[in-house]
This record gives sequence, C-alpha cells and structure tokens, in this order.
Amino acid sequence: MAPFSRKSTIGCVGAGVVGGSLAVALWQHGYPVVAVASRTFSSAQSLASRLAGCIPLASGQEAADASEVVFITTSDDAIEPVASGISWRPGQGVVHCSGAASLDVFHQAVRQGAVAGAFHPLQAISSVENGVSSIPGTTFGIEGDGEMRAFLKDTALAIGGRPVFLNAEDKPLYHLSGVMMGGLLTTMAAVVAELWEVFGIDRAEGLKALVPMMRQVSYNLESSGLPGAVAGPYARGDVGTVRKHLEALRSRAPHVLPLYRELALAGLPFAIEKGTLKSETAEEIRDLVEQFGR
Ligand SMILES: NC(=O)c1ccc[n+]([C@@H]2O[C@H](COP(=O)([O-])OP(=O)(O)OC[C@H]3O[C@@H](n4cnc5c(N)ncnc54)[C@H](OP(=O)(O)O)[C@@H]3O)[C@@H](O)[C@H]2O)c1
Repeated sequence: MAPFSRKSTIGCVGAGVVGGSLAVALWQHGYPVVAVASRTFSSAQSLASRLAGCIPLASGQEAADASEVVFITTSDDAIEPVASGISWRPGQGVVHCSGAASLDVFHQAVRQGAVAGAFHPLQAISSVENGVSSIPGTTFGIEGDGEMRAFLKDTALAIGGRPVFLNAEDKPLYHLSGVMMGGLLTTMAAVVAELWEVFGIDRAEGLKALVPMMRQVSYNLESSGLPGAVAGPYARGDVGTVRKHLEALRSRAPHVLPLYRELALAGLPFAIEKGTLKSETAEEIRDLVEQFGR
C-alpha cells in the first residue's frame, strides 16, 4: 500500500461528537471520507448524510474494507474490542482519538499488519458543530511511527490544528493536563459560582459575572504567557487581603477552604518568578495559608 496521504480514503467507526467533528473537518479540507459505521445505524446515516461521497455501513468491518485509514472514534472502552473484531489488511491505517488510551489497544490489528496511530484533539467537544469550529488552533496529541506519524502531523496541520508528538509513557500526564484545564476548571468555576449563593445571589448570576473574567484570564495567558499573566493579591503580596479571604472561607464556606489553600500555595512560585512578590512576603503568605489548614 502507498504511504498515507491526503488522498487516502478515510473510514470512521463511531459516529459520535469527535468522530463527526473530525469526519466533517477532514471532508471540508478535501480528504475523501468514504465510509462511516457506528453502533447504531441511524448515527452512521446521520453523519454520512452530511458528507457527499460518504456512505453509512452496517459494521466496522465494512467501513474498514472500504477505506485505507480507519478512525475508531468510539468511546474509549470500545476501541479495543471494535478494532480487535475487524480483519485488517497489511498496510492499512488504524487510528483512535483517545487521550487516555495508548497504541497497545491496537495489538490485534498490528499483528495483522495494520499501521497504528493516535490523534487526540486536546479540546472539550460537546457537539459536532462546536467540535468543527474548535479545531482551528487545537493541539492534536499524536502517537505513531514513520508514515503514520507524518500522515497525522500533515492531517493536523491541514485542518488548522497544532501537532504534538507523545510517548506512550507520557500520555497519562498529557491527558490529565487537558482534564484539569477542561473538566476540572469547569468544576472550579461551578464551585466558585456557588460561593455567590452564600451571599444571596444565585449561581447563574455568579457565573455570568465570573465568565468574562475567565475569558480575560485566557486572553492574558495567551498574550502575556507565564509569569506575565499572574495577577491578584498574591502577585501584589497583599497579606491582609489573603487573611480576610481565609477568615471568610473558614466562617462562611469552609468546604472551599482546602481548594483555595492548595491553589494559593501553588501560585506563589509564579508570583515570585514575575518579580512582583518578594520571597520574604511569599513565606509570610505561606505561613498564613498553612495556619488555616490546621
Ligand atoms: N468529547 C471530547 O471532548 C473528546 C475530546 C478528545 C478526545 N475524545 C475521544 O474521542 C473518542 C470519542 O468520544 P466522543 O466524545 O465522540 O464520544 P461519543 O460522542 O459518545 O461518541 C462515541 C460514539 O461511538 C459509538 N460507539 C460506541 N460503542 C461502539 C461500538 N461498539 N461500535 C461502534 N460504535 C460504537 C457510539 O455510537 P452510536 O451513536 O451509534 O451509539 C457513539 O456515537 C473517545 O476516544 C474520546 O476519549 C473526546
């Protein structure tokens, strides 16, 4: 089989939000997306109907038979059984989009001569529409060797993404960085918005007030980087303000105190690095924050 290229026919198994986003983005950039299969045939039909030249098929095997590179975009737990249930042709490409799984989920396919890759969008995708629009500027974590590595790098660039190459042993750390920046940051936003309920304003209003700050923080991080984007009482060394925060949390929202303390302590080195917080003041803040943990 010829090396993979932008002309390689693409199949997609798993017509969910990532499979759909990727298939649409690839199709929009001229990749021949020719076949889609899913657990539910109607999901495959619905995705294929958006892509001229693409047909819905009843099984992963049929989608694989029709294409040169197969993206397995099922839920993580289904990747291995789905891939292992397919008969692969030597030289055929098989790619998953999981940030948590490594390439060993393709052990059966590789034994039959398939060439394995991983292509993980470091993004929070909740629908095909927002997935497609989020792709430009998104980083794609790539695993794979040789021609697969080159193909996935070229594919990321073609759809407006940023390729980054990963080793299997680094994947859990890479993946959890995305989870912390996505799901866990959302959790922090939820916890912080609910603090507003303690002073009598509902969390929806709190969120409305806080989201523009989140947007500005993203902008500051993007434009000024680290440590330039660091701001607030810690960067200023306002010990009295920090004390007021800790006292308010202890008396009115003690469940938030551990989260606040951890983040406060973790932020001190960046404020020192910025040059706006003296080491002695940082030590004073550290002692104060630690007192509130006892
Ligand atoms: N969503 C994100 O933010 C995100 C970001 C980066 C990477 N990812 C990765 O992308 C992959 C897909 O996630 P997703 O968010 O797109 O999930 P999803 O929307 O739930 O889509 C998964 C699809 O897989 C299909 N499926 C499940 N089991 C199957 C099987 N045994 N055979 C064939 N199809 C099967 C389901 O099809 P039916 O509709 O037919 O039931 C479902 O639509 C995962 O590996 C995930 O880790 C997700």
